[in-house]
Amino acid sequence: MTGLPNEENAIQPLRRQSANLGVLGYGNVGKGVVKILLDPEGRDPSLARINLVRLGVRDIKRPRPNVSPEILTDNLESIVNHPDIDIIIEVMGGIEPARTLIIQAIENGKHIITANKTLIANHGIEIFALAAKKGVSVKFEPAVGGGIPIIEVLNSGMGANRLEGITGIVNGTCNYIFTRMAELGLSYDKALEEATELGYAEANPDADVSGRDSAEKLAILVKEGFGLNVDPQVLTDSGFVKGITSISPRDIQCAKELDYTIKLLATSAIQRDDTLLFAVRPHFVSNRHPLATVNNNLNAIYIKGDKVGELLLSGKGAGGDETASAVVADVINTIKSISSGVAAISAPSPAESTEFVTLSSEIKSKFYLRILTGDIPIAFGGIMWLLGKVNIVPEYVQQHITPDGLLEIVMITQPVSSQMLKDGLRSIRALPHCKEVANSLPLLEVS
Ligand SMILES: NC(=O)c1ccc[n+]([C@@H]2O[C@H](COP(=O)([O-])OP(=O)(O)OC[C@H]3O[C@@H](n4cnc5c(N)ncnc54)[C@H](OP(=O)(O)O)[C@@H]3O)[C@@H](O)[C@H]2O)c1
Repeated sequence: MTGLPNEENAIQPLRRQSANLGVLGYGNVGKGVVKILLDPEGRDPSLARINLVRLGVRDIKRPRPNVSPEILTDNLESIVNHPDIDIIIEVMGGIEPARTLIIQAIENGKHIITANKTLIANHGIEIFALAAKKGVSVKFEPAVGGGIPIIEVLNSGMGANRLEGITGIVNGTCNYIFTRMAELGLSYDKALEEATELGYAEANPDADVSGRDSAEKLAILVKEGFGLNVDPQVLTDSGFVKGITSISPRDIQCAKELDYTIKLLATSAIQRDDTLLFAVRPHFVSNRHPLATVNNNLNAIYIKGDKVGELLLSGKGAGGDETASAVVADVINTIKSISSGVAAISAPSPAESTEFVTLSSEIKSKFYLRILTGDIPIAFGGIMWLLGKVNIVPEYVQQHITPDGLLEIVMITQPVSSQMLKDGLRSIRALPHCKEVANSLPLLEVS
């Protein structure tokens, strides 16, 4: 990839001193972007070189204060085909028509900024390949972590390091739900209701609480951090993505008593054999770990590099203004890199990345287990015997009788692979007196 660009992949220059923008979508994020553009004083001087030329919406009749009617349109194709527009900002969401519009814009030589994690996680390869061919840049800082500039850090700040792992709390809705359950002892349903009332959760929260949203964001982080293409759907289908709906107030209480906090973590780590561990699932996070302090609707990404050590970036992972901060930063960086004549291609070309990753099921971790059995004399001994048979050694065990007369066993195991754990729990479930394996969650300890 050295030498001068040829005619096809030459970086598309700005055609004038200023950059003309077309924005697809004027919702929470689009409004935040326009607010920043209308108030450039004291921000990066490049903002003075930006003209907003067109703004695309679905419902043209809805009143839009602050927007001059001449730039508003419901014909989004006219924006991506507009000869005077240099940069397209896609903040409309969804796969279609966003994908087709972006493809058309790239074909027309326009640089792209998108906040659309679903689109980048699932169609990134196609989009980046075309962008590389056409010599335009595609930036997507706002797609992960809202206002947290994590993509820039992974792209530009970590180059000297061999990355060991990226672990994130990347879904503010789930983090808010767990925080409220821990603070007030709320049920999952009540905490979700509160998150919905406050606008943190969508009317249909399925993508958030199922872990799918976190998986898409982790796929983007893995691509940026490790240069590996991960299909989030394949991982979801393979059972590596688990949501938060199984967490009960009793699990939250057990975590507290044992000095842990439950968090939905998106984890990735390179193993010694070069396989990638990728998982989204609730964890017991040690209260001494920096991620345990990330509460409410905040996001955080924790990175480990062999030279820099541990980094934690934390901030608001959603919100119109916060996400617009990342969108406009991408606009400024696009303008600067074009002006300096440096190719602004922001993603690895498909040839540089692998098409698949191997998931390691051998990675070992301590686990929290909560098991409910009939209160009979042999119950406890039977469970311990079965665990011993598959080499699962308890490090901490507590048992008590529940108000409805069951024996509850709460345990922290010594490190065990998820396969060994699966085998052990299968045998326990088959015991005639076992009522339920109420939960099993991996632990994140301080390294
Ligand atoms: N909100 C956040 O905090 C946040 C954080 C990170 C990333 N993001 C991402 O940013 C993107 C935008 O989110 P948002 O919260 O701003 O969404 P939103 O409030 O629902 O706004 C979407 C905008 O796009 C327009 N739109 C949608 N589909 C359209 C279509 N088919 N044709 C024409 N216009 C269409 C809508 O038009 P109308 O106004 O006429 O309905 C609206 O203006 C999404 O990809 C989201 O995942 C959002």
